Amino acid sequence: MGYNVAVVGATGAVGREMLRTLAERNFPADKVYALASQKSAGREVSYGDDEVIKVEALDSFDFSNAHIALFSAGGDTSKAYADKAGKAGCIVIDNSSAFRMEDDVPLIVPEVNPDAVEGCLIANGGRNIIANPNCSTAQLVVALKPLHDAYGVKRVITSTYQATSGAGQAGMDELFNQTKGIFVNDQNPPETFTKQIAFNVIPHIDVFMDDGFTKEEWKMRAETKKIMDDSIEVVAHAVRVPVFVGHSESVFVETAKPFDEGEARDLLREADGVSVIDHRANEGYVTPVESAGEDAVFISRLRRDPSIENGMVFWCVSDNLRKGAALNSVQIAELVVARKLAG
Ligand code: A2P
Repeated sequence: MGYNVAVVGATGAVGREMLRTLAERNFPADKVYALASQKSAGREVSYGDDEVIKVEALDSFDFSNAHIALFSAGGDTSKAYADKAGKAGCIVIDNSSAFRMEDDVPLIVPEVNPDAVEGCLIANGGRNIIANPNCSTAQLVVALKPLHDAYGVKRVITSTYQATSGAGQAGMDELFNQTKGIFVNDQNPPETFTKQIAFNVIPHIDVFMDDGFTKEEWKMRAETKKIMDDSIEVVAHAVRVPVFVGHSESVFVETAKPFDEGEARDLLREADGVSVIDHRANEGYVTPVESAGEDAVFISRLRRDPSIENGMVFWCVSDNLRKGAALNSVQIAELVVARKLAG
C-alpha cells in the first residue's frame, strides 16, 4: 500500500529537505501534499529531481486525506494543527519542540529507541503524534547509544557549534547578507540572531532560563534523558557559529565501566547511522562543510580523557537539516510504515 504524506512547512529550510529526503529514499508515497501559509499557496516546490508540487494552504487542508504528516513550521503551528491532524487519523511526526516532553508523545531517534514509537497511537494512550528531537540531541544520542550499551554512559559534557540553518532559512540569509555587507560596508543589523553572526560566534541559542542555561542547552539534557536513559547526566553549552549547514559538538563522556579506546572506536564504527573518520593527521577528521548533504553522524578525534578514570572525548558532526531534522523525521515515517501504524 502507498501512503498519502503531507509536509507542513514545505517552503522552509527543513520542509524542502523533507521533500528531498522522501524522494531520495523512495518513500512509498502515493500522494505528497506540500503545505505552508496562505501567502505561499500556489507556489511550486520540488519533490526529487523531476517532480514539482503546488503548495496548498495549511489552514484549509483536510488531514483525513493524509496517512502521515511531517510538520516543520514552528511550535505554534504544530500546537494549532497537530492534534487536529492526529484526531483525523493522520500520524503526525513533529519537528518542533511543542510536544517533545509530553508523556503521551514518544520522542524518537530510530537508531536509539525505535520501540517507543508504538506509544504514539491513540489506542496505546498516545495522540497520533511522534516528536522529532532537537537537532543537537539527535546526533548526540546516535553517537552515545553504542557507548551506553557497552559501558553505561554516566555523564556527558558537551559544547556545540551550531549552524545558522538551525534557525531556518532566515538564519542562513542573515549570515549571507551580513558577510557580504561587511565587504561592501553595508550595515545588516541582527534580526534572527541576537548579535552579529558574520565573523563571530554567539553563546546563546533559544531563550534564557532561570538557572542561567538556555532552552537549547536544557533540551539537550532533557531530551537525551527521555530518549536514552533518565540516569544519564548531561550538561551542554550551545553556541551559534557562522556556518550554513552542519552542527558540530565536542563531547566529553564518562562511562560506568572501563573501556578500551580501540574497542570503543570499533563499536562506533559498527553502529547504525555512525561513520567514524578518525586519522590523527591533516584532513583526518570531518568538518560541518563535509557533513552537509550526508546522512551520517560523523565521529572524529576520539581519545581518552586523562582527567577522569573512565573518560573519553570526541568530535561529532552531522548535517542538522538531515539527521537533525528531515532525515530523522523521514526515518520515523519509515518506522511507522514498517510497523503498520498508519493507514
Ligand atoms: P511560509 O513560507 O508560507 O511562511 P523556516 O523555518 O525555514 O523559516 O520555514 C518555516 C516554514 O513554516 C515555512 O514553510 C512557512 O511557510 C511555514 N509556516 C510558518 N508559519 C506558518 C503558518 N502559520 N501556517 C502554515 N505554514 C507556516
